[in-house]
Amino acid sequence: MPNNADKILKLFFVNYFNQYYSFHLGLLMHNFKELVKFFAEKFSEEHFPNHPAGLYQPGTYFLSLGGKRIRPVMCLMGNELFADINPDAFNAGMAIELFHNFTLIHDDIMDAASLRRGMETVHLKFGQNAALLSGDVMMIKAYEYIAKLNVHHLAKILFLFNKTAVEVCEGQQLDMDFEKREDVSMEEYINMISLKTSVLLAASLQIGAILGGASEGNCNHLYEFGRNLGIAFQIQDDYLDAFGDPEKFGKEVGGDIRQNKKTFLMLHVWEVANAQQKSELKNLMLNNPFDKIEKVLSIFKACDVDEWAKELKEKYLQKAFQHLEDIAVLSVRKKPLIELAEFLVQRDY
Ligand code: IPE
Ligand code: IPE
Ligand code: MG
Ligand code: MG
Ligand code: MG
Repeated sequence: MPNNADKILKLFFVNYFNQYYSFHLGLLMHNFKELVKFFAEKFSEEHFPNHPAGLYQPGTYFLSLGGKRIRPVMCLMGNELFADINPDAFNAGMAIELFHNFTLIHDDIMDAASLRRGMETVHLKFGQNAALLSGDVMMIKAYEYIAKLNVHHLAKILFLFNKTAVEVCEGQQLDMDFEKREDVSMEEYINMISLKTSVLLAASLQIGAILGGASEGNCNHLYEFGRNLGIAFQIQDDYLDAFGDPEKFGKEVGGDIRQNKKTFLMLHVWEVANAQQKSELKNLMLNNPFDKIEKVLSIFKACDVDEWAKELKEKYLQKAFQHLEDIAVLSVRKKPLIELAEFLVQRDY
């Protein structure tokens, strides 16, 4: 009992101390919803010219479809963890969101996807050439925003932005290479999703932290928080691709199965399936029958992938929180990041 009372007392004082100091240091913090709104106001000012329409119309269409805007918000949160928002965090956020949208337009060509954010994909609506070129110009526009950054931070952020962009390409290539392989290991899968998805989340946070004047140690822990959270985020994405509600998900459910993607679902099932299930899976992947998705899904279910998905997500979420704990700021300041993390791994869209 005295032990418990001690703990409660300690918790009370730590909490009180955190609240008191964050209030008296005048450090105002915002939650996810508020930051999405701030960013949306700036982002709506981003306009492509009208001419040539074939180049700019697809980009205007795509940006108008919305999206969760989690990366620019992470940039703002990374900044606010350490200081009031630096106006450059909006420039960096614009660059990051434009870069992300460019990768989606090209990713949908590579994945032969028909639906994005509940609407027709750019390459289906405007043709593949238009999708390639409008994606390219969007990526170049991203650099216009990087070029606006104060010279004091420019070199560091440009280096991180470029390193991340190269890693995303590496991840995307591995993702496609794996479609043709049967022997992909869980370690290779985690490395691939870390590259294609999580380094951009990590870099978004770190760029914000740099703009907030964070120390190198804090920047590194925040990056690792983002990298592990990004892995859990992609695990959820892969789960939703198989089991999401088509009404909410906004993408075609079963697209990964159709493309023979080596998601953790497929790797796990490959490990635990019996000989008959394995040979059926092999057949389905090779011959692509009309009912392939339905049949693969029923093997997934028979192999209890749900529990495994939860476990894997939780593992990386806990790793992320470990790094968040090691960041040397008052813990009350970490609240928006904790809420964001919980939303990202439980989201249904
Ligand atoms: C989709 O990212 C691509 C992945 C890395 C899984 P988001 O789920 O953030 O897509 P939008 O921007 O909200 O549409
Ligand atoms: C995409 O991964 C990652 C990048 C766009 C770089 P996915 O292919 O799983 O993303 P979705 O499911 O199409 O959004
Ligand atoms: Mg895709
Ligand atoms: Mg893809
Ligand atoms: Mg996906």
